[in-house]
Amino acid sequence: MNETPRVAALVSELAPCASLADVGCDHGYCTLAALERGLCARAVVTDISARSLQKAERLLAPYIAQGRVQSVCCDGLAGVPADTEQVLIAGMGGEEIVTILTRGFLPPRLVLQPMKNAPKVRRFLAEAGYRLEHDYTLFVGRKYYDIVRAARGENRGYSPLDLRFGYDNLKSPSPAFARWLEGEREACRARMAQAKSSPALEERLAMLSEACDETLRNLR
Ligand SMILES: C[S@@+](CC[C@H](N)C(=O)[O-])C[C@H]1O[C@@H](n2cnc3c(N)ncnc32)[C@H](O)[C@@H]1O
Repeated sequence: MNETPRVAALVSELAPCASLADVGCDHGYCTLAALERGLCARAVVTDISARSLQKAERLLAPYIAQGRVQSVCCDGLAGVPADTEQVLIAGMGGEEIVTILTRGFLPPRLVLQPMKNAPKVRRFLAEAGYRLEHDYTLFVGRKYYDIVRAARGENRGYSPLDLRFGYDNLKSPSPAFARWLEGEREACRARMAQAKSSPALEERLAMLSEACDETLRNLR
């Protein structure tokens, strides 16, 4: 299988476990990679779309035949055993991810990759008693993905800026993140120059400048 850098990065965040749930699995690539690396004894793959789930069922057929993988067509965690050790939810909006966790259950370990609204996911996790162990942005060409690995426990002392941009992005920034942040600041300045400046834009520029300063101090 041709594994994408995103899938490889997600799977590298998984801890070895007895039970994994891949919620919104679609093709099932993440679970396949987890099984191939020996990261889980068994897995539940779910999707709200029966057609999407069928793709995973085809890909994971040998593991399903062995009884190591169970597929469930359901909304969020509805069909997932509540004692599942580790849950992966990737490629969905952050608000959807928060809704799934709120309606379902809070497992010991989570790996999340929200397509948008990552700050809402970080805030939810911190308030729900998770330690955000790795919280960064993966850059792949022109695309980027926010990835959060969390486990039950005390947090690392998140500032509002960490919640907005990701703790590890600010504390140990990659050059790609520093470039992205600088680009955001330039775009914000350009918008302010074109249109009449607004309090919201001024606030955003101040926040971006603060983040740029912190990133510059911590750049490897
Ligand atoms: C973009 S795909 C991501 C697939 C895979 N998780 C990945 O990251 O490669 C999003 C998948 O989430 C599924 N999905 C969306 N909302 C869902 C929900 N509430 N419960 C379960 N699956 C959902 C969609 O049907 C779709 O297959």
